[in-house]
Amino acid sequence: NVRVFSGMQPTSDALHLGNYLGAMQNWLKLQDMICKENETVQNERDKHSVLFSIVDLHSLTSTKSISPKTLRSNIESVATNYLACGIDPDKVILFNQSMVPAHSELTWIFNCITSIGKLNNMIQFKEKKRSEDNDNISCGLLSYPVLMAADILLYRTTHVPVGEDQRQHLELTRKIAQIFHNQYKTKIFPTPITLNPVHSKKIMSLNDGTCKMSKSDPSEFSRIMLTDTDAQIKSKIKKAKTDTITGISFDPSTRPDVANLLVIASSMSGQPIADIVNEFSNKPTSVFKEFVSDSVISHVSPIREKIDYYKAHPKKVQEVLYKGAEKANIIANGNLKKIKDLVGLYH
Ligand code: TYM
Repeated sequence: NVRVFSGMQPTSDALHLGNYLGAMQNWLKLQDMICKENETVQNERDKHSVLFSIVDLHSLTSTKSISPKTLRSNIESVATNYLACGIDPDKVILFNQSMVPAHSELTWIFNCITSIGKLNNMIQFKEKKRSEDNDNISCGLLSYPVLMAADILLYRTTHVPVGEDQRQHLELTRKIAQIFHNQYKTKIFPTPITLNPVHSKKIMSLNDGTCKMSKSDPSEFSRIMLTDTDAQIKSKIKKAKTDTITGISFDPSTRPDVANLLVIASSMSGQPIADIVNEFSNKPTSVFKEFVSDSVISHVSPIREKIDYYKAHPKKVQEVLYKGAEKANIIANGNLKKIKDLVGLYH
């Protein structure tokens, strides 16, 4: 049976273009593909399922500066963003991670079979560690990838649609499954496959084409949020870093900033990069930038309008989260029982 799982952290109140192009576009494709496949599956038990989560427990590793009230409202806002992008709670299970306690329980079991050495070697941990002093690094930050492995393996997931930057976390997830199988002499978890976007769309910061677009960048101008107004999008792209070379060409290694704008424009407009390069190869950067912002605006503004609609109907969003958690808890608790049996724990 195909089982899809993925999630995003509610560290801010909206998704950015990196989240959208690196993950969300694939989520939408999978949602529709699997829904179609399910139509032909007769037996209820054999129907495939897709789960998309707001991973609030993960965000506790980086929310020291966010108040509990803000975190709570970010969770609802991210759910609102999912719905506005087209995630359909009638087709998939949309839920908030902390409403399914089995995630934390399985994390503890996995914590006890994962070596600190492996976790110390995770690239994202090393990067985050560099920006904190030793006394401030929490166990949670170190164990972050273990929680992610629990998210995935808890549902016996087969496919995980994520951006390029999650590759190492998925490798560790497969390793943890293997260690569990060796220790308890039973194969219970499928090997989860990572699904990256077709052209491996790692979306870069608008201020620096060599760093990824991220929620944690202190500069608002480094990213475009799905909640940005048309004027904000225009001004961010106008200010986006480019280079002094005349004309537009696609060369990620020597012209990373222009290449990033081309990837964005191509994904948003649906036009191949080569066609856009052809059209703008001899034109000034300012004219090209107008095309980039027009393509982003025409794709993002309908999403923003839907976000505004759901923001005005918070009860609808809360209901989706409660119903989603109910369904997720059923699958999660069933699998957790089997896992606890293997480990020798009571349930
Ligand atoms: P998070 O919240 O940082 O990002 C959510 C998704 O967006 C993708 N992404 C990007 N893709 C392309 N370019 C970018 N600049 C960019 N920035 C973010 C990420 O690859 C991700 O797919 N650890 C995960 C959340 C998580 C998870 C999971 C994912 C927790 N448990 C289980 C899958 C399965 C994270 O921090 O994503």
